[in-house]
Amino acid sequence: MAILVTGGAGYIGSHTVLTLLERGDDVVVIDNLSNASRTSLDRVAELTGREPTVYIADILDKEALRTIFSRHNITDVIHFAGLKSVSESVKEPLAYYENNVTGTLVLLHEMLAAGVNHFIFSSSATVYGNPESVPLNEQARTGGTTNPYGTSKYMVEQILADFSHAQPDFRITCLRYFNPVGAHPSGRIGEDPNGIPNNLVPYISQVAIGKLETVSVFGNDYPTPDGTGVRDYIHVMDLATGHLAALDSQDKGAAFKVFNLGTGIGYSVLNLIEAFEKAAQTQIPYQFVARRPGDIAECWSDPSLARTELGWQATHNLDDMMRDTWNWQKNNPNGYRM
Ligand code: NAD
Ligand code: WQD
Repeated sequence: MAILVTGGAGYIGSHTVLTLLERGDDVVVIDNLSNASRTSLDRVAELTGREPTVYIADILDKEALRTIFSRHNITDVIHFAGLKSVSESVKEPLAYYENNVTGTLVLLHEMLAAGVNHFIFSSSATVYGNPESVPLNEQARTGGTTNPYGTSKYMVEQILADFSHAQPDFRITCLRYFNPVGAHPSGRIGEDPNGIPNNLVPYISQVAIGKLETVSVFGNDYPTPDGTGVRDYIHVMDLATGHLAALDSQDKGAAFKVFNLGTGIGYSVLNLIEAFEKAAQTQIPYQFVARRPGDIAECWSDPSLARTELGWQATHNLDDMMRDTWNWQKNNPNGYRM
């Protein structure tokens, strides 16, 4: 019996593969390495003393999926594979819909053909669009997404809901991650963005290591306590354990389920800079600039459904997140590139 992890060489995937291997699960990974390095999985093997079976292949490739399902006794699929840059999705919408929507359709077809019916999907708080109020629980209105990336996640959730009606034997869980940050405490695996990071925490950590000069804080005139954007940052190791909890509870309750994975606490951009300065024992230069188009003022979760139904809650606080991000950054200044 094995768990198929699509996108398992990526940031959240590699931490989840590690956590699965550590508890004794057998893992098969499919990843086309479009946004990842094979080294992440070598390091997972080094940390756990166990090897996942790795296929360097695309989820759009039916034959590759067919081979995997025929060679391994897959019981569950955790589906991370996809493209995730908001700004890139505006420039390349077709690539985003193809990878994220068509890729999921191909995978579901092959699961049906192979008789594999447990599915966990990497969704995102982005499906809530611009929240009417915070904290957001799973009943909050979805849609109103402002970029193809967000729309692709919203579309896949809709497809999965429809598919679940038609295939009641399928167990489907959508996990809506808030803002994933941090790294494994060993500092051996972590987030390794290509080029100049779009997201706040990788940007701050590259300023801290001296690769970038100053953090541009996008707007200080939001209706938030200090005027900067507020988000629910969650440690990637908490996300990993969230996936294990979701796997373990798939046969309980409804056939189609949705959970927020967040801490329930909102922090501002300035809170993050301050916490990072404390972790790295250095000053982080920053300047206020205009708001980034498409950004929202604040977004944080009500994570209580995951607590009551999955028995899961985040255990890492902001200091843990910044400490582990810094530990990864300082030990791997060029990410997985030597
Ligand atoms: P990531 O880019 O590090 O991981 C995605 C992995 O999928 C990469 O290893 C990439 O090489 C692989 N991949 C992409 N397209 C593929 C394809 N067609 N076939 C095979 N492999 C393919 O991203 P991540 O941060 O680990 O995110 C994982 C999932 O979680 C994504 O679906 C993302 O949209 C979702 N998510 C991420 C965040 C975030 O901020 N990191 C937030 C919410 C949701
Ligand atoms: C966080 C805060 C920015 C960079 C994105 C996606 C979302 C999800 C997670 C996948 C905001 C501010 C940022 C910088 C800044 N991904 N900021 N200077 O925008 O909340 O969410 O990643 O599903 O879909 O939209 O994350 O890290 O980009 O921004 O001031 O250089 O930091 O304005 O308030 P975001 P982020």
